[in-house]
Amino acid sequence: MWPHLGRKIFVANWKMNGSLAFAEAYGTFLYEQRATIPQGACAIVCPPAPYLKAFCDAIQGVAFLGIQNIAAASKGAFTGEISANMAKDIGCCYGLVGHSERRHLYRESDAVVLEKMRRITEAGLAPILCVGETEEQREGGRMEEALYQQLCHVSSLGCIPGLIVAYEPVWAIGTGKTPTRANIQKACRVIHDILEAQEMHDVPFLYGGSVTAANAQDFLSLKEVQGVLVGGASVKADEFLAIIQHLDKIS
Ligand code: 13P
Repeated sequence: MWPHLGRKIFVANWKMNGSLAFAEAYGTFLYEQRATIPQGACAIVCPPAPYLKAFCDAIQGVAFLGIQNIAAASKGAFTGEISANMAKDIGCCYGLVGHSERRHLYRESDAVVLEKMRRITEAGLAPILCVGETEEQREGGRMEEALYQQLCHVSSLGCIPGLIVAYEPVWAIGTGKTPTRANIQKACRVIHDILEAQEMHDVPFLYGGSVTAANAQDFLSLKEVQGVLVGGASVKADEFLAIIQHLDKIS
């Protein structure tokens, strides 16, 4: 049973930000504020890998841990890489995969994304698969095509326990721009149709891209949206907590 099932999901992706002292202070803050975290919220925090253990010790189970990236291979001579099993060993339950920064800055293809997802699943972690169209694809009316390409082979891995899909339009990441609610609903329908055609049902759908404490409620109030994936705004513990606390304001 995955901790996120039946709850709203709040994922913090710090990317390459923070320090050891920051990770300890962030974990301690959330732990001390635990009574103010709504019951129906599942918080997942993805610090940089070197700080996972310190964060895990500080947070004492109040949030779940995710790793931002793992190797496509399971072990061996891959200098600098971290395997999914290593992430599991230090307390991770979740693994981000297919993030647009990995796809674009590190040229990770859909085949590599699938291989990483296979490793995450084999290690017993739940994958948070990120998908989304670029600005050019959006302007060319090719959003559906982009999502199809990123998702059409997912079922080749067989059953993917705990799978979560995060829709992060590339043009909305770190830009302050966000899609309309109707755009998000459309992306959710497209994604669900692609997954349903592969017999993958009830996969939680997250929205990510310039989510802040000021706009989180717009997304969380959509019935299609099971949660948010937060980058920049999650690098402030109090803002991430404020985003989670929006759950209490949704009827
Ligand atoms: P921002 O929230 O900074 O736009 O980043 C989104 C993101 O990439 C989360 O994975």
